[in-house]
Amino acid sequence: MSITTGDFRAKITSSTLLDKKQKHEPITCLTAYDYASARLVDEAGIDMVLVGDSLGMVVLGYDNTLPVTVEEMLHHTRAVRRGVKRAFLVADMPFASYHVSGDEAIRNASRFIKDGAEAVKIEGGEKRAQLVERLIDAEIPVVGHIGLTPQSLHAMGGYKVQGKSLKAVEQLMHDALALERYGACCVVLEGIPREVAAMITQEIEIPTIGIGAGPDCDGQVLVFHDVLGLTFAPPAKFVRRYADLGSTITSAVQAFKNDVKSGGYPLDEESYHLPKDTLLTLQAIADRKRAMQV
Ligand code: KIV
Repeated sequence: MSITTGDFRAKITSSTLLDKKQKHEPITCLTAYDYASARLVDEAGIDMVLVGDSLGMVVLGYDNTLPVTVEEMLHHTRAVRRGVKRAFLVADMPFASYHVSGDEAIRNASRFIKDGAEAVKIEGGEKRAQLVERLIDAEIPVVGHIGLTPQSLHAMGGYKVQGKSLKAVEQLMHDALALERYGACCVVLEGIPREVAAMITQEIEIPTIGIGAGPDCDGQVLVFHDVLGLTFAPPAKFVRRYADLGSTITSAVQAFKNDVKSGGYPLDEESYHLPKDTLLTLQAIADRKRAMQV
């Protein structure tokens, strides 16, 4: 068990996140989907790591998040768990894993906790209130997710900014308040006007983590591949690219290909060698064979 001391490497928990909101310290969150990305994100000091179902698109090549299965999410959650030491680790419950019944949702959510997640994230607000309450009752911390919820792609009629009308703003506020009342430890606000995110952030006591929701949320989350330029489509308006690793990787791969084709790789110093005495013995045997043939 690790003791929370408040230093840079202290384990982040849901209480740390709450504390950060109260102290107006911005919360940082990035997605990760495997051991390497998880270690890099964790060691850079990010507070929260999300094994997002966005992995369906950025890692598995699906068109959207809907085909992602519980097994796929668990596989990646286990890999990320092995790489994360400090950050608060949240795993997305994929589409249809919490929609059929409360019992099935708890059974699925428990598997994420057993495999190392510290909370599960589910999409939807007021209509998930009862489920949030049941999950909390089963000792499973919950992160809410409202606004543009990608699992509602067809119901929303596409990826559209949500919460633009008065009625929609009211509903979003009800959603956030319901998630808070029923025990969610924080809530992701995705694809909503800055002003609405600011109002929700003011109104609720649990932290809000924004993505395409402006700068007034308690924290910000982005997708790892978006931040590093590892996606194949133009980024959304809210994405800031901090690196262009796609081009870096392409150049490195092409350089390897060219070196192999030209005989420039591997060099002698990149090769293993026999011990001198073994080499001399082999040469002597070869010389003897040649002498006998003459
Ligand atoms: O799946 C995901 O990556 C997400 C976020 C970006 C919030 O849900």
